[in-house]
Amino acid sequence: MSVDNILNRLSELKVRALQSLNGIDDIEALDSWRVDYLGRRGELTQILRGLSDLDNDDRRHVGSLANNIKSELEQSLSDHQQSLKDRELAGRTQFDVTLPGRSIDMGRLHPTTQIVREICDAFVSMGFQIAEGPEVEWDRYNFEMLNIPKDHPARDMWDTLWVDYKDNNGDTPMLLRTHTSPMQIRIMEDSEPPIRVIVPGKCYRYEATDATHEWHFYQVEGLAVGEGITFADMKGTLFEFARIMFGSDRKVRFRVDYFPFVEPGAEMAIDCFVCKGSGCRVCKNSGWIEIMGAGMVNPKVLEGVGYDSSKYTGFAFGMGPERIAMLKYGIDDIRLFYSNDMRFLRQF
Ligand code: DAH
Repeated sequence: MSVDNILNRLSELKVRALQSLNGIDDIEALDSWRVDYLGRRGELTQILRGLSDLDNDDRRHVGSLANNIKSELEQSLSDHQQSLKDRELAGRTQFDVTLPGRSIDMGRLHPTTQIVREICDAFVSMGFQIAEGPEVEWDRYNFEMLNIPKDHPARDMWDTLWVDYKDNNGDTPMLLRTHTSPMQIRIMEDSEPPIRVIVPGKCYRYEATDATHEWHFYQVEGLAVGEGITFADMKGTLFEFARIMFGSDRKVRFRVDYFPFVEPGAEMAIDCFVCKGSGCRVCKNSGWIEIMGAGMVNPKVLEGVGYDSSKYTGFAFGMGPERIAMLKYGIDDIRLFYSNDMRFLRQF
């Protein structure tokens, strides 16, 4: 190949390379450009290989020109690379300050979960432990061992959803627990006094729903058993609970009530937070709002789990957290808790 020919090819190559470089706007294309023009198999290297055919003077002349072109192309490559990087960086940090912000959807705990935790925390601060148990329960735990034998009229207090299953003996049917009280038995069967435990959990009843009734709902059960526990201990504990949940200026009232598993049994109420006791729609004009059932554990129940009832006494209580949330937040329909309406849930 003649010198002129080589020189022509070199200058043509330079023009073509620079033109093509200018049109490149991404880093990958830039790399294949480098391979095409400057790589070991690239055009410039091919031309430089041909120099061996030339005589010394020509080789030196063409060689230095080719090397100049090579360094010029290398320089242009690195400049172009830098400018692409700058551009990318600038693009990344550019933002329109006039754009409205994007709202972030925050998840949150369901109001029932919040109130259950609040109730549990109040008792944990008084030294109670938390336990949980099965929602599908034996008749024996849900009723029999709580002093509610078969055909006892008190069973009418708990409309029951039965499960179509019997154990091997065929004599203790299963059901969806109607309250958390069966956990009293399970806990006493598994441990020795002193016991101080609180049991949150879901319960089910065969019931038509309305503003104050759901067929599934939560309860929080409490149990304390030991030596020398009295009704006064129960009042002290539950007064303290009312103070933590509702504030110290609330009045608390105990009245006698009947539950087969406690003796004496009581119902605890607080003075109505809306009318402060003078009577209104929320408290049905009584001035008081019932918040739980309670009582001294019936000696029959203690004996049933093998405890010596002349040595041990205890108290138990049970409450509906949705009811407490309704009182605390002025919610007028229990069904709202289970309808998943975002307009309701977002408020908590
Ligand atoms: N289990 C009762 C119910 O569902 C509530 C209750 C009342 C629980 C008195 C107790 C208690 O532990 O002592 O209506």
